[in-house]
Amino acid sequence: QWTDFERQTIQSIFGKMDYDDVGPAALSRCLIVYPWTQRYFGNFGNLSNAAAIQGNPKVAAHGKTVLQGLVLAVKNMDNIKATFTELSVLHSEKLRVDPDNFRLLADCLTIVVAARMGAAFTADVQGAFQKFLAIVVCSLCRQYH
Ligand code: HEM
Repeated sequence: QWTDFERQTIQSIFGKMDYDDVGPAALSRCLIVYPWTQRYFGNFGNLSNAAAIQGNPKVAAHGKTVLQGLVLAVKNMDNIKATFTELSVLHSEKLRVDPDNFRLLADCLTIVVAARMGAAFTADVQGAFQKFLAIVVCSLCRQYH
C-alpha cells in the first residue's frame, strides 16, 4: 500500500525529527487552537492560556508520549491497524476521547512538521505525511463502536 517514495519520506521525517521539540509543540498547539480538547487533560494542571499550556511539563511529556506512539506506527508501517489495537481500545473505552479529535491533533502535527521542514516540505512530502497520519487516525478510531 506504500510507494517507495512514501515509505522513505515517512522514515526520513521521523528519523530526523526532534521529538522533544515537535511532540510538545504539536500537542500544545492542539490544546490552544481547539480548546475543547483540554477536557481530557483535567489532571494536567494549569491549561488556562497559551503560555500556561506551552510551559506545562505534563503537556510536554505527553506530547513526547504521543510521538512515541507514532514511532511505533513508523516501525510497523505495513501493520498500523493491528499495532494500534490496544491504543484504540484505551482511547475509546477508558479515556473516551471523541475520535474527531485524532484528526485535529494530526493536523496540528502536520503544521508543526511543515514549519520545521520549510521548503523541504513539498506537496509530495505533505501527501505522504498526511496519508500516514490518516491511516494512524483511522486505526485509532477502529475500536470505537
Ligand atoms: C494517552 C497516543 C491522540 C488523549 C496516550 C498514550 C499514547 C497516546 C501512546 C499513552 C498510552 C499509555 O499510557 O499506555 C496517541 C496518538 C494520538 C493520540 C498516537 C493521535 C495522533 C489523542 C487525542 C487526545 C488524546 C486527540 C485527546 C484530545 C489522551 C489521554 C491520554 C492518552 C487523555 C492519557 C494521558 C495521561 O493521563 O497520562 N495517547 N494519542 N490522545 N491520550 Fe492519546
